[in-house]
Amino acid sequence: MKKIISMLLIVCLLGVLASGCGSNMQTVDSIKDSGKLIIHTNAGFAPYEYLSNGEVVGVDMDIAKAIADKLGVELVIEDVKFDTIITSVQGGKAALGVAGITVTDERKESVDFSVTYATSVQYIIVPADADVDTIEDLAGLKIGVQLGTTGNFIIDDEINGIDEDDGSHTKGVLEGTGAECITYNNANLAAAAMDSGKLGAVVIDKLPAEIIGQKYGEKFKVMELVYEDGSKTTEEYAIAIAKGNESLLEVVNEVLAELKNNGKIDEWVLYHSENAVMDEE
Ligand code: ARG
Repeated sequence: MKKIISMLLIVCLLGVLASGCGSNMQTVDSIKDSGKLIIHTNAGFAPYEYLSNGEVVGVDMDIAKAIADKLGVELVIEDVKFDTIITSVQGGKAALGVAGITVTDERKESVDFSVTYATSVQYIIVPADADVDTIEDLAGLKIGVQLGTTGNFIIDDEINGIDEDDGSHTKGVLEGTGAECITYNNANLAAAAMDSGKLGAVVIDKLPAEIIGQKYGEKFKVMELVYEDGSKTTEEYAIAIAKGNESLLEVVNEVLAELKNNGKIDEWVLYHSENAVMDEE
Protein backbone atom coordinates (compact mmCIF):
# COMPACT_ATOMS: atom_id res chain seq x y z
CA MET A 1 0.00 0.00 0.00
CA LYS A 2 2.75 2.42 1.01
CA LYS A 3 4.51 1.61 -2.22
CA ILE A 4 1.45 2.43 -4.28
CA ILE A 5 1.04 5.76 -2.52
CA SER A 6 4.66 6.73 -3.06
CA MET A 7 4.42 5.63 -6.69
CA LEU A 8 1.37 7.82 -7.09
CA LEU A 9 3.19 10.71 -5.48
CA ILE A 10 6.09 10.32 -7.86
CA VAL A 11 3.78 10.22 -10.86
CA CYS A 12 2.03 13.40 -9.67
CA LEU A 13 5.34 15.10 -9.07
CA LEU A 14 6.62 14.20 -12.50
CA GLY A 15 3.42 15.52 -14.02
CA VAL A 16 3.85 18.85 -12.29
CA LEU A 17 7.48 19.05 -13.33
CA ALA A 18 6.72 18.15 -16.93
CA SER A 19 4.08 20.83 -17.22
CA GLY A 20 6.42 23.35 -15.57
CA CYS A 21 3.90 23.80 -12.76
CA GLY A 22 1.63 24.49 -15.68
CA SER A 23 -1.62 24.15 -13.79
CA ASN A 24 -1.00 27.58 -12.26
CA MET A 25 0.37 29.26 -15.34
CA GLN A 26 -1.66 32.28 -16.37
CA THR A 27 -1.65 31.91 -20.12
CA VAL A 28 -3.42 34.27 -22.51
CA ASP A 29 -6.26 31.73 -22.75
CA SER A 30 -6.71 31.30 -19.00
CA ILE A 31 -6.54 35.08 -18.47
CA LYS A 32 -9.21 35.63 -21.10
CA ASP A 33 -11.34 32.90 -19.51
CA SER A 34 -11.11 34.46 -16.07
CA GLY A 35 -11.49 38.00 -17.44
CA LYS A 36 -8.70 39.21 -15.15
CA LEU A 37 -5.03 40.08 -15.44
CA ILE A 38 -3.53 39.86 -11.94
CA ILE A 39 -0.31 41.78 -11.50
CA HIS A 40 1.89 42.21 -8.44
CA THR A 41 3.60 45.47 -7.64
CA ASN A 42 4.93 47.38 -4.63
CA ALA A 43 3.76 50.97 -4.26
CA GLY A 44 6.13 53.46 -2.65
CA PHE A 45 8.33 53.59 -5.74
CA ALA A 46 7.23 56.74 -7.54
CA PRO A 47 6.94 57.51 -10.41
CA TYR A 48 6.59 53.82 -11.29
CA GLU A 49 4.05 52.91 -8.58
CA TYR A 50 2.70 55.00 -5.73
CA LEU A 51 -0.53 55.59 -3.87
CA SER A 52 -2.89 58.36 -4.86
CA ASN A 53 -6.20 58.54 -2.97
CA GLY A 54 -5.62 54.98 -1.82
CA GLU A 55 -5.22 53.72 -5.38
CA VAL A 56 -1.99 52.36 -6.86
CA VAL A 57 -1.03 54.49 -9.87
CA GLY A 58 2.17 55.17 -11.82
CA VAL A 59 4.03 54.43 -15.02
CA ASP A 60 4.01 50.67 -14.41
CA MET A 61 0.26 50.71 -13.74
CA ASP A 62 -0.32 52.58 -17.01
CA ILE A 63 1.73 49.93 -18.78
CA ALA A 64 -0.17 47.13 -17.02
CA LYS A 65 -3.48 48.73 -17.99
CA ALA A 66 -2.38 48.81 -21.63
CA ILE A 67 -1.57 45.10 -21.44
CA ALA A 68 -4.95 44.31 -19.83
CA ASP A 69 -6.69 46.40 -22.51
CA LYS A 70 -4.84 44.53 -25.25
CA LEU A 71 -6.09 41.25 -23.72
CA GLY A 72 -9.57 42.72 -23.27
CA VAL A 73 -9.67 41.92 -19.54
CA GLU A 74 -9.90 43.74 -16.23
CA LEU A 75 -6.61 44.75 -14.55
CA VAL A 76 -6.28 43.55 -10.95
CA ILE A 77 -3.42 45.26 -9.09
CA GLU A 78 -2.15 43.62 -5.91
CA ASP A 79 0.18 45.77 -3.80
CA VAL A 80 2.56 43.32 -2.09
CA LYS A 81 6.02 43.31 -0.52
CA PHE A 82 8.66 43.79 -3.20
CA ASP A 83 10.73 40.79 -2.17
CA THR A 84 7.78 38.38 -2.73
CA ILE A 85 7.03 39.40 -6.32
CA ILE A 86 9.44 37.09 -8.18
CA THR A 87 8.28 34.03 -6.21
CA SER A 88 4.60 34.88 -6.76
CA VAL A 89 5.12 35.26 -10.49
CA GLN A 90 7.08 32.02 -10.57
CA GLY A 91 4.32 30.19 -8.71
CA GLY A 92 1.49 31.68 -10.78
CA LYS A 93 -0.10 33.80 -8.02
CA ALA A 94 0.39 36.75 -10.33
CA ALA A 95 0.55 36.69 -14.12
CA LEU A 96 3.08 39.52 -14.16
CA GLY A 97 5.40 41.39 -11.82
CA VAL A 98 5.33 45.06 -12.81
CA ALA A 99 7.40 46.94 -10.25
CA GLY A 100 10.42 48.65 -11.76
CA ILE A 101 12.09 45.25 -11.57
CA THR A 102 15.72 45.22 -12.64
CA VAL A 103 16.78 42.31 -14.81
CA THR A 104 19.48 40.33 -12.97
CA ASP A 105 21.05 36.96 -13.68
CA GLU A 106 19.87 35.65 -10.34
CA ARG A 107 16.24 36.61 -10.98
CA LYS A 108 16.49 35.10 -14.47
CA GLU A 109 16.95 31.72 -12.80
CA SER A 110 13.39 32.00 -11.40
CA VAL A 111 11.42 33.96 -14.01
CA ASP A 112 11.56 35.21 -17.58
CA PHE A 113 11.67 38.90 -18.45
CA SER A 114 9.98 40.99 -21.12
CA VAL A 115 11.94 43.40 -23.28
CA THR A 116 13.30 46.22 -21.12
CA TYR A 117 11.40 49.51 -20.88
CA ALA A 118 13.61 51.78 -18.77
CA THR A 119 17.18 52.21 -17.61
CA SER A 120 18.22 53.36 -14.18
CA VAL A 121 21.17 53.79 -11.85
CA GLN A 122 21.39 53.66 -8.07
CA TYR A 123 21.22 56.94 -6.15
CA ILE A 124 22.37 57.96 -2.69
CA ILE A 125 20.20 60.22 -0.53
CA VAL A 126 21.85 61.88 2.47
CA PRO A 127 21.03 64.74 4.87
CA ALA A 128 21.91 68.04 3.17
CA ASP A 129 24.90 68.72 5.42
CA ALA A 130 26.50 65.27 4.98
CA ASP A 131 29.97 65.08 3.47
CA VAL A 132 29.28 62.39 0.87
CA ASP A 133 30.35 62.25 -2.77
CA THR A 134 31.00 58.55 -3.41
CA ILE A 135 29.83 55.22 -2.04
CA GLU A 136 33.15 54.98 -0.13
CA ASP A 137 32.00 58.02 1.88
CA LEU A 138 29.20 55.90 3.37
CA ALA A 139 31.85 54.20 5.55
CA GLY A 140 30.56 53.67 9.08
CA LEU A 141 27.03 54.86 8.31
CA LYS A 142 23.68 53.16 8.79
CA ILE A 143 22.42 52.80 5.23
CA GLY A 144 18.69 52.30 4.57
CA VAL A 145 17.54 50.26 1.56
CA GLN A 146 14.35 48.59 0.35
CA LEU A 147 14.40 44.87 1.17
CA GLY A 148 15.24 42.65 -1.79
CA THR A 149 16.16 45.45 -4.20
CA THR A 150 19.34 45.89 -6.20
CA GLY A 151 20.30 48.74 -3.85
CA ASN A 152 20.03 46.23 -0.98
CA PHE A 153 22.27 43.76 -2.85
CA ILE A 154 24.94 46.36 -3.69
CA ILE A 155 25.21 47.68 -0.13
CA ASP A 156 25.24 44.16 1.35
CA ASP A 157 27.91 43.08 -1.12
CA GLU A 158 30.10 46.10 -0.34
CA ILE A 159 29.74 45.55 3.40
CA ASN A 160 30.36 41.82 3.22
CA GLY A 161 32.92 41.94 0.45
CA ILE A 162 31.13 39.78 -2.08
CA ASP A 163 31.84 40.11 -5.77
CA GLU A 164 28.58 40.92 -7.54
CA ASP A 165 29.45 38.89 -10.62
CA ASP A 166 30.76 35.58 -9.30
CA GLY A 167 30.03 35.63 -5.55
CA SER A 168 33.72 35.29 -4.66
CA HIS A 169 35.20 37.28 -1.79
CA THR A 170 36.75 40.56 -2.80
CA LYS A 171 37.30 43.48 -0.51
CA GLY A 172 34.07 45.46 -0.30
CA VAL A 173 34.46 49.22 -0.28
CA LEU A 174 32.41 49.40 2.95
CA GLU A 175 33.84 46.27 4.53
CA GLY A 176 35.20 46.69 8.03
CA THR A 177 34.10 50.34 8.19
CA GLY A 178 31.22 49.69 10.59
CA ALA A 179 28.67 50.53 7.88
CA GLU A 180 25.36 48.73 8.36
CA CYS A 181 22.63 47.88 5.85
CA ILE A 182 19.14 48.40 7.31
CA THR A 183 16.19 47.10 5.30
CA TYR A 184 12.74 48.70 5.00
CA ASN A 185 9.62 47.69 3.11
CA ASN A 186 9.96 50.73 0.88
CA ALA A 187 12.29 53.65 0.30
CA ASN A 188 9.81 56.20 1.69
CA LEU A 189 9.99 54.47 5.07
CA ALA A 190 13.79 54.55 4.89
CA ALA A 191 13.67 58.26 4.03
CA ALA A 192 11.37 58.93 7.00
CA ALA A 193 13.82 57.05 9.25
CA MET A 194 16.67 59.20 7.94
CA ASP A 195 14.59 62.31 8.55
CA SER A 196 14.24 61.30 12.17
CA GLY A 197 18.00 60.81 12.49
CA LYS A 198 18.09 57.01 12.46
CA LEU A 199 20.06 56.62 9.21
CA GLY A 200 23.01 58.30 7.58
CA ALA A 201 22.03 57.46 4.00
CA VAL A 202 19.40 55.80 1.81
CA VAL A 203 20.21 53.95 -1.43
CA ILE A 204 17.49 53.47 -4.06
CA ASP A 205 16.93 53.81 -7.82
CA LYS A 206 17.32 57.22 -9.48
CA LEU A 207 13.77 58.48 -10.09
CA PRO A 208 12.33 57.38 -6.72
CA ALA A 209 15.38 59.00 -5.06
CA GLU A 210 14.83 62.27 -6.93
CA ILE A 211 11.17 62.34 -5.93
CA ILE A 212 12.06 61.67 -2.29
CA GLY A 213 14.63 64.47 -2.58
CA GLN A 214 11.97 66.88 -3.85
CA LYS A 215 9.60 65.87 -1.05
CA TYR A 216 12.14 66.64 1.66
CA GLY A 217 13.32 69.82 -0.05
CA GLU A 218 16.38 71.39 1.54
CA LYS A 219 16.75 68.71 4.21
CA PHE A 220 18.16 66.06 1.87
CA LYS A 221 20.48 65.96 -1.11
CA VAL A 222 20.54 63.24 -3.77
CA MET A 223 23.36 62.07 -6.02
CA GLU A 224 24.21 59.24 -8.33
CA LEU A 225 25.97 56.33 -6.65
CA VAL A 226 29.53 56.39 -7.99
CA TYR A 227 32.68 54.69 -6.79
CA GLU A 228 35.91 56.58 -6.07
CA ASP A 229 37.40 55.02 -9.20
CA GLY A 230 34.57 56.51 -11.26
CA SER A 231 32.63 53.30 -11.86
CA LYS A 232 28.84 53.40 -11.71
CA THR A 233 25.84 51.10 -11.50
CA THR A 234 23.44 50.64 -14.38
CA GLU A 235 20.27 48.60 -14.59
CA GLU A 236 17.34 47.94 -16.85
CA TYR A 237 13.71 47.40 -15.90
CA ALA A 238 11.50 44.71 -17.38
CA ILE A 239 8.27 42.89 -16.57
CA ALA A 240 8.64 39.53 -14.82
CA ILE A 241 6.63 36.58 -16.14
CA ALA A 242 6.53 32.85 -15.40
CA LYS A 243 9.17 30.84 -17.23
CA GLY A 244 7.87 29.48 -20.51
CA ASN A 245 4.70 31.59 -20.57
CA GLU A 246 5.29 32.36 -24.25
CA SER A 247 1.80 33.44 -25.28
CA LEU A 248 1.56 36.12 -22.59
CA LEU A 249 5.19 37.20 -23.08
CA GLU A 250 4.46 37.87 -26.73
CA VAL A 251 1.54 40.18 -25.88
CA VAL A 252 3.58 41.98 -23.19
CA ASN A 253 6.51 42.56 -25.55
CA GLU A 254 4.20 43.79 -28.29
CA VAL A 255 2.54 46.32 -25.95
CA LEU A 256 5.90 47.49 -24.58
CA ALA A 257 7.29 47.98 -28.08
CA GLU A 258 4.26 50.10 -28.98
CA LEU A 259 4.49 52.22 -25.83
CA LYS A 260 8.21 52.76 -26.30
CA ASN A 261 7.80 53.76 -29.93
CA ASN A 262 4.88 56.14 -29.52
CA GLY A 263 6.52 57.97 -26.62
CA LYS A 264 3.84 57.01 -24.08
CA ILE A 265 6.30 55.68 -21.52
CA ASP A 266 8.34 58.92 -21.57
CA GLU A 267 5.12 60.90 -21.29
CA TRP A 268 3.94 58.86 -18.28
CA VAL A 269 7.34 59.21 -16.55
CA LEU A 270 7.04 63.02 -16.80
CA TYR A 271 3.41 63.07 -15.73
CA HIS A 272 3.88 60.83 -12.69
CA SER A 273 7.17 62.45 -11.66
CA GLU A 274 5.30 65.74 -11.31
CA ASN A 275 2.20 64.32 -9.68
CA ALA A 276 3.83 61.87 -7.30
CA VAL A 277 5.67 64.65 -5.46
CA MET A 278 2.36 65.96 -4.24
CA ASP A 279 0.94 62.60 -3.26
CA GLU A 280 0.86 60.33 -0.23
CA GLU A 281 3.40 57.56 0.02
N1 ARG B 1 14.95 48.27 -9.51
C1 ARG B 1 15.15 47.77 -8.19
C2 ARG B 1 15.13 46.28 -8.18
O1 ARG B 1 14.67 45.66 -9.08
C3 ARG B 1 14.14 48.31 -7.19
C4 ARG B 1 12.72 48.08 -7.54
C5 ARG B 1 11.76 48.44 -6.44
N2 ARG B 1 10.43 48.45 -6.93
C6 ARG B 1 9.32 48.74 -6.21
N3 ARG B 1 8.20 48.76 -6.82
N4 ARG B 1 9.39 48.99 -4.96
O2 ARG B 1 15.56 45.64 -7.26
